[in-house]
Amino acid sequence: MASSSGQDAGLRHLALMGIPVWARRRPTAGRGTALPPGEEGPDRAAAPVPAATAAVPAAHRDGGVATLGWEALAERVAVCTACELHRTRTQTVFGTGDRDADWMFVGEAPGADEDRQGEPFVGRAGQLLTAMIEALGLRREQVYIGNTLKCRPPRNRDPLPEEVVRCRPFLERQIALVQPRVIVALGRIAAHNLLGVETPLARLRGRVHRLAAGTPVIVTYHPAFLLRSPREKRRAWEDLCLARRVARGEPT
Ligand code: URA
Repeated sequence: MASSSGQDAGLRHLALMGIPVWARRRPTAGRGTALPPGEEGPDRAAAPVPAATAAVPAAHRDGGVATLGWEALAERVAVCTACELHRTRTQTVFGTGDRDADWMFVGEAPGADEDRQGEPFVGRAGQLLTAMIEALGLRREQVYIGNTLKCRPPRNRDPLPEEVVRCRPFLERQIALVQPRVIVALGRIAAHNLLGVETPLARLRGRVHRLAAGTPVIVTYHPAFLLRSPREKRRAWEDLCLARRVARGEPT
């Protein structure tokens, strides 16, 4: 059972994520807003699911991306014209943070702020992601943050399958170079791309997935979704606690 000081510490972390008195709040039946596909609430009927082993699709070796070092990889991304997004981007958004990090956070794609500044998660969703990271007792600079796509889709539309496939070798190489102890997939697009599945996000949460190389992946809600549905921050915090146990090598 958690001690009262442990509970106090938990409440401080939640406050950092902007979760007010989270333990006492419960969704009110009939008041829930409809959630976008893939961001639905947890499937309460589902029995606990054993840890899954999910394979990242084989790396596209074209162009030797799978062998590039950090600088060459960043240069390759900066000049990439593999899909139509290069025509509308201001600049590519490579990734940021500690390249030897234990933690890696993977989002969907740059938005307008990121496209302008060249860094992932710098807008409102990014501020919440930073708060989530700090709630874990980490600083943003201590983790590595990247995206499924390195270029902004026009009007922030969902990435097209072809864009995801063409961009995938870059993320795979970033993961291989960082070798994180845990990856947190932020939202449906990142989870589906990393795990090679199309399972609703609600059913991917709450368990440890593994890439082909063995890297653990925890799935949680995208910060932009949490801004629209702050009630779900409580579940996101549970996901982060699971990821922390994985990162520390503790039983899950
Ligand atoms: N949303 C994302 O998925 N990535 C970003 O970099 C910013 C917003």
